[in-house]
Amino acid sequence: MIGRLVAKMSFGNDDPSQPRAGDSNGAGASLEALVRNAPLAVLSLDREGRVLSWNPAAERMFGWRAEEVMGRPLPIVPSGKEAEFRGIVDTVLGGESLTAVEVSRHRKDGSRVEISVSTAPLRDDQGDIYGVIAVTQDITDRKHAQAAAKLGEARLAALFELSQKSAATEDELVEYALEEAVRLTGSEFGYFHFVADDPSGQLLCRWSSAVKKARSANREPPPPSSKVGVWADCARLQRPVVHNEYKDLPDREGLPPGHPPILRHMSAPVLVDDQVVAIAGVANKMSDYDESDVRQLQLFLDGLWKLLQQKRAIAEQQRLEEQLRVSQRMDAIGRLAAGIAHDFNNLLAVIVGFAELLHRDMRAEDPLHEYVKEIGDAGERAARLTRQLLAFSRKQVLNPEVLSLNHIVMDLERMLRRTLGEHIELVTDLEQRLGASLLDRGQVEQVVLNLVVNARDAMPQGGTITIATANERLDAAACAALGEIEPGRYVSLTVRDTGHGIDAATRERVFEPFFTTKAPGEGSGLGLSTVYGIVSQSGGVIRLDSEKGAGATFTIYFPRVEAEASPSQPPPPVGPDPRGTETILVAEDESSVRRLVQKILADAGYRVLVAANAGEALLQCEQWEGPVDLLLTDVVMPHMSGKALADRLASLRPGMKILYMSGFESSVVACHGVQGQRTNLLTKPFSAAELTRRVRATLDAPPEP
Ligand SMILES: Nc1ncnc2c1ncn2[C@@H]1O[C@H](COP(=O)(O)OP(=O)(O)OP(=O)(O)O)[C@@H](O)[C@H]1O
Ligand SMILES: [Mg+2]
Repeated sequence: MIGRLVAKMSFGNDDPSQPRAGDSNGAGASLEALVRNAPLAVLSLDREGRVLSWNPAAERMFGWRAEEVMGRPLPIVPSGKEAEFRGIVDTVLGGESLTAVEVSRHRKDGSRVEISVSTAPLRDDQGDIYGVIAVTQDITDRKHAQAAAKLGEARLAALFELSQKSAATEDELVEYALEEAVRLTGSEFGYFHFVADDPSGQLLCRWSSAVKKARSANREPPPPSSKVGVWADCARLQRPVVHNEYKDLPDREGLPPGHPPILRHMSAPVLVDDQVVAIAGVANKMSDYDESDVRQLQLFLDGLWKLLQQKRAIAEQQRLEEQLRVSQRMDAIGRLAAGIAHDFNNLLAVIVGFAELLHRDMRAEDPLHEYVKEIGDAGERAARLTRQLLAFSRKQVLNPEVLSLNHIVMDLERMLRRTLGEHIELVTDLEQRLGASLLDRGQVEQVVLNLVVNARDAMPQGGTITIATANERLDAAACAALGEIEPGRYVSLTVRDTGHGIDAATRERVFEPFFTTKAPGEGSGLGLSTVYGIVSQSGGVIRLDSEKGAGATFTIYFPRVEAEASPSQPPPPVGPDPRGTETILVAEDESSVRRLVQKILADAGYRVLVAANAGEALLQCEQWEGPVDLLLTDVVMPHMSGKALADRLASLRPGMKILYMSGFESSVVACHGVQGQRTNLLTKPFSAAELTRRVRATLDAPPEP
């Protein structure tokens, strides 16, 4: 109906070659006025697609004046859309009407206009179709709003998806977010970089998959932000930056080798307290990046950053809780272990000592020789075990010197390379100017060995072990995260492997004594507990970073001391068991230990006085008329400690030397006042040779001032 009416109107079409519906009766005139004044663009076309009519609203909408288009092919169809246009016209010429078809057209100035078209056939008086009429409405704004909403929805969906990835690692989150940002902005590739806050502004990079693929053959570390040309502009300017004419930029060096060429580029920073902490960029959208792309990237980036922060906060919280649980459990186990080990040491001193005496005093051809030797060997093994337990419970007697971790690592390196086997690569990365620390060489060697052996065991198929040292300055936050240490200067020792890693449940227990995941006979589970004890007793802490399947890194921090490390010293040579004839007073409450000591010393030629406690010792001293050259006393005895006894006797017997014995408990020794005299301390269990050597050395030492 509309078709018929409008077709009868003329909007200044005076071309006689064009079919026109001539008459201008009253209805026609008012209709013509209606169409002329209509806010909607109204136009009609003949069967060949030439313009028959074009109202002022069409002029406004498309920018062509009526006289420019009348009788000519419709100029508003963009290239590439001709077939779609022809399809619509043919449908209508076939007699069908179409309502609210949404298409895109362009204006005279080339800009896009989105329209909704309703179109119907034009019929002449005989009812034959001679053209089409179209009423069009500009829906550009609505379309943009819709597109923005859709994008917003897609972004929300992506953000939601992101927030659902609570189990994902940080890497996976960033990777996912990056691919989404690339997708949502219609880009070809992108990057996400954390900006480290050291002065060089080193960037820690994640590339989207397209770049990664291109760069896979070429993997050197990313350059610092000061050296990377325009793509870190947003970090320097602290705001989003768009380069739609990338190739024309004068200052665009800094693309890593292998990187695909950039045509257009947009990047945005994440700002925290006016500091750029991360930047993200996307590149090579088909058309120019605009405001909405920038907003898109910025919003997505902010969302990602919040999630990363949450994730980090949660992970940190979990780490602290895990650490607390571990340290509480370790304390409890440590106390238990220390108690057992202390009592065991007294027993072992007796077993090992008497087995040694028995062995020595037997005739060489005695058939029981072998049995005695077995007892002695088993005793030694048991002593080693208790030593490990004591190490774990931080109750060892340490022999600290000012050392460089580097020396220890270098001294061990050759032996490690030999023993690790072909399938394992050992890399050392030692800080040249490493500070010194106060360490027990033998114990730290034990630490390195245990860590390296574990690393090897975690890589049955082979891999790489890296031993690194570094100077570290730990602030309050770092210390809080690490455990009970004070902020300050530290040296670190890191042992990293590329093995099967440690899952969360195992991570909580690895430092427990006797915890092992190895087959019976393959591991005792004492390696890491020894490491833990030695490190804690040396005032250090251990940090373990590992995920299942992703290798393990043990980092140990030892307090740094301001002194020069002493060079490696060879152990003193072992000579024959020394003897003597001096008088020695032995104070020891354990009768079997007392008897053992008495026997060993008497056999070595000494005159031995024995006492089961301090009181007896005092009495002995008073009654004995000859000189007493040495007091050999247990540290912990009932009623009066060894130290108190020594102090009492000092006035009675000036010039008498003192040697303490103890079942290892350095802290107990210390609280009995023997600290600082550890060269005068003999730890149980000891061999006969050790005892006689220490006794001789103490007797021969120059008198203390
Ligand atoms: N580098 C590592 N990679 C993977 N798992 C490890 C690593 N280091 C230690 N572990 C795990 O920690 C457990 C305890 O280690 P620990 O050194 O205390 O005992 P062990 O190696 O099993 O036995 P031992 O050291 O007494 O021979 C191991 O059984 C293993 O499960
Ligand atoms: Mg081990």
